Amino acid sequence: MISVSALIAAHRPGQALDQGFYVREDIFARDMELLLDRWTCVGHAREIPEPGDWLTAELGAESVIVVRGDDGVTRALANVCRHRGSRICNELTGSAAALTCPYHAWTYRLDGRLRAAREMPEGFDPSAYGLTALPIRIVGGLVFVSFGRAPPALDDAAPALEAMTTRYGWEAAKVAHRRSYAVAANWKLVMENYHECYHCAPAHPEFSVLHTLARPEGRRPPASEAMAPGVGEVEAWGPKPDGREVARVMRSALAAGVLTGSEGGQPVAPLMGGAEDHDGGCVFAEVGFLSAFLAYPDHGVIYRFIPKSVLSTQMEVIWLVDGAAREGVDYDLGRLAWLWDVTSLADKTIIERNQKGVLSRFYRPGPYSKMEPGTRLYVERYLAELARAGDGHGL
Ligand code: FES
Ligand SMILES: [Fe+2]
Repeated sequence: MISVSALIAAHRPGQALDQGFYVREDIFARDMELLLDRWTCVGHAREIPEPGDWLTAELGAESVIVVRGDDGVTRALANVCRHRGSRICNELTGSAAALTCPYHAWTYRLDGRLRAAREMPEGFDPSAYGLTALPIRIVGGLVFVSFGRAPPALDDAAPALEAMTTRYGWEAAKVAHRRSYAVAANWKLVMENYHECYHCAPAHPEFSVLHTLARPEGRRPPASEAMAPGVGEVEAWGPKPDGREVARVMRSALAAGVLTGSEGGQPVAPLMGGAEDHDGGCVFAEVGFLSAFLAYPDHGVIYRFIPKSVLSTQMEVIWLVDGAAREGVDYDLGRLAWLWDVTSLADKTIIERNQKGVLSRFYRPGPYSKMEPGTRLYVERYLAELARAGDGHGL
């Protein structure tokens, strides 16, 4: 079998990846080493407002508990018991005065210190058996966690994202809805799909009448200065890894007469904290390899991409509204979630078809179109990071 470094060297820029990248267990294992070391968004801080509130999030074989302590501080703890390794929290969210392992009932304080362990031998030192703390950062209410010991710096990514979250008042937002979509495909096919809108016209008629991003670049109106003022555009998917986390921010015009991403283009929720009006635009943002965001003036969307195994990926969509908005009064969940639900379901279908074709003995990487520069940049950056990790500069 051809080595991973030979496969990377054989890649032809401007073309899709070789079949091996989408099907090989050894490459998936290397992918996970790369991805676990980066930052990934696990949700919104408002989901765990009180001491003892926690949520869990998975990535590959890993799981993290994000918990608010008695001191109000939000911490990330590896969801691995220090006794014999059981998962401790086994639901998506919960609330408790302490974290108790369901296996033999070792009990941890909310800051991760071991509080009680029954029948342990003389000399057992509980202070040596606290839960492993993981790197955590909160940017504009968004909770980012890394499973790596030394994640890349968020120096550029955090301010770029903060401009968007401030403009749209995301810190004071609340989660209105979450939905997961299981996609039977390698995570890179999911991400390549996310990064291009070449497929939007044929696959997403609902999105395409609302967003000008679905049009070729020459026929796309530029986002005017009046749209999302104060939000700078950032393009950091260049091919050179430099020790910093990648970030991308792009303002984008909606179609004429469209105010938000909804059926008919009309508002579906009250304006979010920081937005002063419906300015005819929206903002797309990304931090790291697996987290993306979209801000409309009246609601927001978080996209979480979670590789599970070589041929399976979970897509999670989280809908945000202003923290004061009341369901059934100020917004209707069905109308709020409509666009990104139909769009995500269509993406699941087209990505799974893509994976089936890529598994064929007749698959050969083809050239990207002029409407797929984002995918090309993403893939080149991924290859550069993978090569660097293989050189011993990674984990
Ligand atoms: S594995 Fe957690 S208490 Fe035994
Ligand atoms: Fe899509």
